[in-house]
Amino acid sequence: MIRHLTSIQELSLSEITQVLDDAAQYAADPRCAPQRAARDIVCCAFFEPSTRTRLSFEAAAHRLGAQVIGFSEATSTSSTKGETLEDTVRILSGYADAIVLRHPEQGSAARAARASGVPVVNAGDGAGEHPTQALLDLFTIRSELGSIEGRQVAVLGDLLHGRTVHSLVPTLRRMGADVVAVPCPGLEWPEGDVPTVTMDEALARCDVLYATRIQRERFPDHARFADAESAVRIDRARLQAAGFQGILLHPLPRRGELATDVDDHPAAKYFQQAQNGVAIRMAVLSLLLEHAQ
Ligand code: NCD
Repeated sequence: MIRHLTSIQELSLSEITQVLDDAAQYAADPRCAPQRAARDIVCCAFFEPSTRTRLSFEAAAHRLGAQVIGFSEATSTSSTKGETLEDTVRILSGYADAIVLRHPEQGSAARAARASGVPVVNAGDGAGEHPTQALLDLFTIRSELGSIEGRQVAVLGDLLHGRTVHSLVPTLRRMGADVVAVPCPGLEWPEGDVPTVTMDEALARCDVLYATRIQRERFPDHARFADAESAVRIDRARLQAAGFQGILLHPLPRRGELATDVDDHPAAKYFQQAQNGVAIRMAVLSLLLEHAQ
């Protein structure tokens, strides 16, 4: 049976735990990973810019012994001639054993999955979801703090357009964490069911601060939010003044919301978080490719 990963909701809690456990083994020794995908081809179809997600998927595929094909910009594909996403995906699924798709339209991964004869992994669909990012965020929390259940997590920034939080927040709650939000005014959590706190309250009581970028490319009037970054800005002085004891995560790339003087603070785990993406994506690709056999 073909198994896709278009939304994190498609994974049960026991599958999430399995992915995190598998990733822990891969992270311990990525060079010695079993070549689970030795005869497979993975296609990275990226219609939107990416550094971490695309290259960590490529690295993950290589570590599992797979070959990688793909593209990193829409302008090099026949979508510029008017080809539909469905037709492109139908073609790619004849060339590869799995498709990793990043696309600017929300819902594009689910559309691609319907057109594909091989597993489709959502690597970010507009303001929709980013399930493998959520898995690597969970992995980082678990490996840094030892557990997820019962942890207090504050999400900061653009909660309306940020797809990473759209996958992460519901999953943290499923796993028993307590989630609060420090939103930018006008960019609040769309469902309205996450309690809000001030930045000072979040710094005082949370185990995890999860900062995010204002997603300027996703809405036209972003100039209105020029000051938004300063409202949720984290710098070293702010962490020190609050005596922050938790860990600080960010999916990256960052802009003004996260100062570089935080990088050598003991709370800063975002570079390790990005590195964890390879092991998580190895676990996800193994799971989906195994199911497809
Ligand atoms: C995020 C994304 O693309 O959604 N980046 C990532 O995948 N690490 C976050 C962002 O672009 O702000």
